Amino acid sequence: HDIFLVLVVTAAMYAAKATDHKETKLSLYIHDISAFGDPKDTVIPVAGIAGKAWTFTQFGTVYVVDDNITKTPDPKSPKVAQFQGLYVTASFDGLRAFATASIVFTNEEYNKSTIQIQGTNQDPDTEVAVVGGTGKFRFARGYATSKIYFLDTATQHSVVQLNVTVHTS
Ligand SMILES: *[C@@H]1O[C@H](CO)[C@@H](O)[C@H](O)[C@H]1NC(C)=O
Ligand SMILES: *[C@@H]1O[C@H](CO)[C@@H](O)[C@H](O)[C@H]1NC(C)=O
Ligand SMILES: *[C@@H]1O[C@H](CO)[C@@H](O)[C@H](O)[C@H]1NC(C)=O
Repeated sequence: HDIFLVLVVTAAMYAAKATDHKETKLSLYIHDISAFGDPKDTVIPVAGIAGKAWTFTQFGTVYVVDDNITKTPDPKSPKVAQFQGLYVTASFDGLRAFATASIVFTNEEYNKSTIQIQGTNQDPDTEVAVVGGTGKFRFARGYATSKIYFLDTATQHSVVQLNVTVHTS
């Protein structure tokens, strides 16, 4: 009897573990345009250290970002979300930027749900934390990896590939 009970309880615990979380993997492309003053810019410096240039490689520069996110690298492919937040050049050597942003979904599947990400870039590949979410991503935890997929230096249009893995309860 006791052994049977132990087996039942153990099986129930495993069942609970299996349904502990739901994993969602997303592959997204962020379109970042920073042509320094072009009206199409989606990454704009808003603050920096007095007397220093407000550039990506200058410690202390703060950028506000509102990038389109699409499902494929083609900027004309269906938009699924916006990437809205801040980049801050956060190392004295100017090599690392800290990002805090919301991925705000606009597609049918995740309409108005969000994923919050935070972390610093590490060239050439970056991993940041998923620190939370809303809507369908409530209680989200996870990580996102990113790398530059395409860079057009003439127009300063970069396409960043972002793979997001989140667990929600
Ligand atoms: C962002 O997407 C909208 C359409 O959804 C488009 O009108 C706009 O031009 C795009 N912005 C950029 C900078 O590509
Ligand atoms: C998202 O939801 C709003 C209403 O809350 C609706 O107007 C809009 O069409 C929805 N978008 C998509 C892509 O389903
Ligand atoms: C994203 O996932 C794809 C498919 O698994 C992989 O080929 C690619 O290298 C990944 N990119 C990043 C930035 O993690």
